Amino acid sequence: MRLRARLIRAFLFIILVPAVAVWVTLFLLGQGHPNREALLSDSANFWLITVIALIALVATVILVILWINKSVLRRIRELQKATHEIGNGNLDYEVESLRDDEIGDLCDDFETMRRKLKESEQERRDADNEMRTVISNISHDLRTPVTAVKGYAQGILDGVTNSPEKLNRYVHTIYNKASDMEQLVDELSVYSKIDTSKIVYHFNRVDIETYMRGYADLIRLDLEAHNIDLSFRSTLPAPAEVIADTEHFKRVLDNIITNSVKYIDKSRGILDIRIRDAGDAVQLEIEDNGCGIPRQDLPFIFDRFYRTDLSRRSTTGGSGIGLSIAKKIVEDHGGRIWATSTEGVGTILHIVLRKYAEGNT
Ligand SMILES: Nc1ncnc2c1ncn2[C@@H]1O[C@H](COP(=O)(O)OP(=O)(O)OP(=O)(O)O)[C@@H](O)[C@H]1O
Ligand SMILES: [Mg+2]
Repeated sequence: MRLRARLIRAFLFIILVPAVAVWVTLFLLGQGHPNREALLSDSANFWLITVIALIALVATVILVILWINKSVLRRIRELQKATHEIGNGNLDYEVESLRDDEIGDLCDDFETMRRKLKESEQERRDADNEMRTVISNISHDLRTPVTAVKGYAQGILDGVTNSPEKLNRYVHTIYNKASDMEQLVDELSVYSKIDTSKIVYHFNRVDIETYMRGYADLIRLDLEAHNIDLSFRSTLPAPAEVIADTEHFKRVLDNIITNSVKYIDKSRGILDIRIRDAGDAVQLEIEDNGCGIPRQDLPFIFDRFYRTDLSRRSTTGGSGIGLSIAKKIVEDHGGRIWATSTEGVGTILHIVLRKYAEGNT
């Protein structure tokens, strides 16, 4: 019942109940009274009727107050408590509507507001977490070029660059690594300016073989310095294009190669990069002859912060996020990444990317 109807009913009660009580008393007194007209002039009867009317009035008023208290005031107090709880940050405090009246509507509106607040609070928390993840990913990826720049600069200082060509190669590598750093720092400043933590991609059509060959040439010197022989082979029957953001995709490859360098435990390292055709996709394989990954760990190595016991025991260091970054970026490219490995023999990282086809986005 709506609140107005309830109040009208309460006022009618207050008027009608004492009136009925007076009428019933008069009726009962009149039964045994010889002269009905003189009924009220009898002062005893007058006081009796007045007292009964008062008692009926007070009782009705008390009942109406209790009724209003239960149906209105108690629920307003509940709403007030809920407002305090929400004000104190407890967004799980639910308010039940119970009745179909204005206060019930208010409870419904309050509940809708609470749910919306909770959702936006959750969204804010998710965005914060995502932002933290993005920043820690970028910091992770910054470490690789920083280490390399330090290494090459140290090499120059130690006089390792005994020929102009070697010096030139070292300086070029430092320049390339510094460019990588610049891109990552730019990315950081993009995230601090925009209101989202989603990775911003600039996708382009990329000839995958040309790109991978260029990448292999770029890392060859680095690998040589670590005693690792690099080979590159493509068995694509025809040039193939993929849709990729090369800056981000380079981070995927850098993370995989950094792992191979870290986990190669043989005196002569071998790293094979292969590209092969997979129908409407191309498959990249990056194989090393490192320590390998135990079979039971393979499903988890792409999880954030997961490191195998083997790598935790080693002195290589790391936080276990490199492959989670790689997975995120590959999946954002609509691709797939996984690993196969034999302990003590080596590891292969596989990446599948769809080929670009006209009308395919
Ligand atoms: N090529 C590899 N050979 C052997 N183990 C590997 C190889 N690549 C990854 N792993 C295993 O997978 C784990 C997860 O790799 P991931 O790159 O995510 O972390 P990380 O290299 O330990 O640390 P981070 O990349 O944060 O510096 C590694 O700790 C290691 O145990
Ligand atoms: Mg790593």
